[in-house]
Order: sequence, then structure tokens, then C-alpha cells
Amino acid sequence: MSLRLIYDSRGAATVEATVVAESGARSSVGAPSGASTGTHEVRAWPEGGVPTALEAFRRWGTPTLVGLPVDDQARVDAALHAADGSRDFSQIGGNTATALSVATAEAAARERGIPLWELLQRPGVPGTAFPAIVGNCLNGGRHAIGGPDIQEFHAVARGPPADAIRGALAVHAEVGRRLKAQFPKLALGRGDEGGWVAPIDNVEAVELLAASCTAVRDQLKVDVTPGLDLAATEFYRDGRYRYHGHTVDTEGQLDFVTKLVERFGLTYVEDPFEEEAFDAFHRLTEAVGRKALIVGDDLYTTSLPRVLEGDRRHSTNAVLIKVNQVGTLTDALATVDFARAHGMVPVVSHRSGDVPDGWLAHLALATAASGLKCGLLGGERVAKLNELLRLGAPPETP
Ligand code: PGA
Ligand code: ZN
Repeated sequence: MSLRLIYDSRGAATVEATVVAESGARSSVGAPSGASTGTHEVRAWPEGGVPTALEAFRRWGTPTLVGLPVDDQARVDAALHAADGSRDFSQIGGNTATALSVATAEAAARERGIPLWELLQRPGVPGTAFPAIVGNCLNGGRHAIGGPDIQEFHAVARGPPADAIRGALAVHAEVGRRLKAQFPKLALGRGDEGGWVAPIDNVEAVELLAASCTAVRDQLKVDVTPGLDLAATEFYRDGRYRYHGHTVDTEGQLDFVTKLVERFGLTYVEDPFEEEAFDAFHRLTEAVGRKALIVGDDLYTTSLPRVLEGDRRHSTNAVLIKVNQVGTLTDALATVDFARAHGMVPVVSHRSGDVPDGWLAHLALATAASGLKCGLLGGERVAKLNELLRLGAPPETP
């Protein structure tokens, strides 16, 4: 097992783990990293960042990991926790653990000659249920300075991967066309996840997204609807949600989001409230949970105790899964299994800083995730879409 420093899609340093099985089967996996991180995530890196993570690995890596069988994921992941010794991976870095954990699984799959999704497949999950593509078309918030307060505006495209991906990409292109028509003189930018950035307000942006979805639905006959990740913790302070120009309390936010779902037919709403608002999530799920996935990201941070609390308070009908929020596949899959057993569906997700690896598509298939949230443009996003295409159908030619 070894680590090397590589760069992510934001040009930030991260690590790539290489795991070699006894048979010689090997895998290299890079760690993604977030910008609008939740308070309850494990620490991405030890104090001192990537250089300290590499330095630490030189001490603990060989004694801890060499000789462990790659097909015993639970044991490898337990060894990562033991090497760290803290509760939040603050000593070795949750991102170090994630890269090692996923590379272990991929090496094990290669050793057995099976695809990764089959190795990770959950009990009772068919392996033929394809996720909706949750694809970022327009950016705001912390991922795109100069745009709306809401962080992400998504095309949610359902159906076989080839149709869903074509549909979601068409919405991205349609949003771009409409923005160019609206701002003919403006140099339009793109945010960290490849969505457009333009100086429009929140409701205008949802309107534009919804109209683009309708146009693509009519043209291509694909099932594509609008969705949002508000990442509301980012603009919440002292009891109020602070939009450019006005602020609202929790009641006001509940009213605003409920009306957006109803008026624009949103089918996906992530983090509409700040990360401790279990009860506000519950009230929104009660109001519109039959029409839309209400998804906890910063609320849960993929952490089992947080999802237990969400279940107790009936907060959401969906849980976002980001492996590096907890640091190992074993932890992330325990959360997936609990969520599903308690009536909440998983949606698997990239991070805003990511690397061109495709394993997330396998995780989506293995967990029968309701969504694969991996963006649409940029090599690190397309890598995941293309992997899902490969898993979705045989090649077009013999
Ligand atoms: P992050 O944000 O990867 O920057 O944390 C993505 C999200 O909020 O879903
Ligand atoms: Zn989010």
C-alpha cells in the first residue's frame, strides 16, 4: 500500500492510494474533497494538511496495513480507525482513509475478477436498478461567487443511464442557451461542479431551470425534472436564513421551499435548512415528501448516529452518501443499510473538489441508490457518468 500526492479538480492537493493484493491485483484511488463541508464530517486531513497526512502514513502505513487481506474490508477499515485512534480521523485524515478504503475494495474486486459494484452489492438489492442522474446545471453559494444564494440547481433525470445522461446534459446545454440569450454581452462562468454561473436571483434561477427541464422533456421525451441543493447552513446565522437583500426565519424558509416545490415541480430538495434543523426537515417532508426526495447532506454527513436521529424524528425520506464524510466504505455502507431498512433511500454523491475516478457509479449500482449526484461537465464528473454508461449497457458495436 502506498500514497502519493495528486491534485483535485480545484487544483488542491489530495492523496491517491495504491493497494496491491497478494495476487498482484492492484487499484489506485484518489480522494475527493468538499468546500461546503458539514460540521459533523470527519476531518479531511490532520492539522498540517496533505504533507502531514503523508508524513504520518510513513509511520503507520506499513505496520498497520501490510499483510491484511484485501477481501476483508471490515478488517482493513477497522485497522484504519485503529491507526487513527481519534473519533474523527483527525490523525490520519478522513480523505486518506477514504482513498485506502475504496482502493482496497477495488483491488479485491479485481482479484476476484468481478466488477466493484458486485463486490459491494447490498443484500436484497438487485444490481439492475439504475440511479437517477442528479446533474448540476447552475451554481451559486460557496461554489460560485456572483451567482444566487442557493448552491446547486440540478436536472434530475430518470431512466436507463444512456437516456438519463443525455437528458441531464441537454438541460445543462439548454440552461446555457437561455442564459446567453438573457445576457448576450456577459462572459458566463462555470462553478466548481461545472454548472453555469450568472448574476440572477434564486427564484429566477429555479424558473430558468424548470423551463429548461420542460423544454428537454418535450424534445427528447426523457423524464427530467428540476431539483435543488440549497446548502442552507452556508447562509444561516443567528436563527435566520440570509439571502442577498432579505432574511427569513425557519417558518419563512419552510414556506419559501414548500412553494418552490409546488410551483416548479421540484422532485429533489437537499439541505433546505441548516444542519441541526431535524424538525424543520420533518415538517417539509410531511408537506411535500410524497412529491420530492427531501435529502439530508450536512444534516447527516453520512454518519449513522445522525441518520438514527433523523429516523427518530422522521426528518427526511432520503440520505446523501459521501464516503469521505465518514472515511471508510464500511461506515458508509452501514449508513446506507440502516437508511434503507428505515424507509429512507440513499443518493450517492461526489464532492465539489473531485478526481477523475469512476467508482462512485459502482457504489450507486451496489446500493440501488435513487440518485447518482456527480455533476455533468468536467473530466472528474464525466468519468462517473461514463462509468455508469459502461455498467448500463453493452457497447454499441461487437
Ligand atoms: P461540497 O458540497 O462537496 O463542497 O461539500 C457539495 C454539497 O453540498 O452537496
Ligand atoms: Zn449538499
